Amino acid sequence: MKLTPKNIYEKKQAGSKITVLSLYDYPSARIADEAGVDILMIGDSVAMVLLGHENTLGVTMEHMLYHTVAVSQAVRKGLVVADMPAHSYDDPEIALKNAKRFLEEGHADAVKLEGGSKVLNQVQKLIALGIPVMGHLGMLPQTSGSQFHVQGKTPEEAKVILEDAKMLDRLGVFAIVLECIPAKLAAEITQAVKCPTIGIGAGPETDGQVLVLQDILGIRSNVSPRFVRRYADLETIIKKAVQSYCQDVIKGQFPSKKESF
Ligand code: KIV
Repeated sequence: MKLTPKNIYEKKQAGSKITVLSLYDYPSARIADEAGVDILMIGDSVAMVLLGHENTLGVTMEHMLYHTVAVSQAVRKGLVVADMPAHSYDDPEIALKNAKRFLEEGHADAVKLEGGSKVLNQVQKLIALGIPVMGHLGMLPQTSGSQFHVQGKTPEEAKVILEDAKMLDRLGVFAIVLECIPAKLAAEITQAVKCPTIGIGAGPETDGQVLVLQDILGIRSNVSPRFVRRYADLETIIKKAVQSYCQDVIKGQFPSKKESF
């Protein structure tokens, strides 16, 4: 049975932590889905992680749809959430048109939008028309670029983030990503809202955690934000495998008779 936004929402009441990974392609999504990840998110971080841009602003709806189709085709159990790229939700009508494309053409189950009061009308419209929405507060990459600045350190900033979270919760989002905020503030927000909170650089007291797949696998050795935990060193493994392949070809040791027709 495939997870629904309602199932994710109810995990909070059940006290079950929610696992989320940001990933962008069919094989990764198949493996992560089989491994039991709850939410497979096609993050606009694809701009930096796969396409080599400096920030997330380099991706369009067409890029995001391309990756969303690839992920959706692989997923049997988890919830597929497509990240709406910068300017794809500048007003409620544009947001609706593009969110529908993610669901109809990309086969996503839900969409994610960055921001609080600035996207109130967009979130309201999508939810009123039955489109499941995930919020995103704290550090907003579409606004702040590639700089990982912790948000909500001053009481004034913290208050805005808390009020935005309460507002998104009232509007009916099924979860909220909290990115790069102090752990204490994330814990306070998690207590204050009914929907689950999903942290990234937001400490241990959120209802779930999200990281980028390439980061936990150790494929992006040039980027290592403090909140990433590496579970593998695939960069070294991949490099060794590629070097071995090159050596075999150079020495005439590949292919062997068994590998030939
Ligand atoms: O773009 C992304 O991958 C994200 C998640 C890390 C939350 O927004």
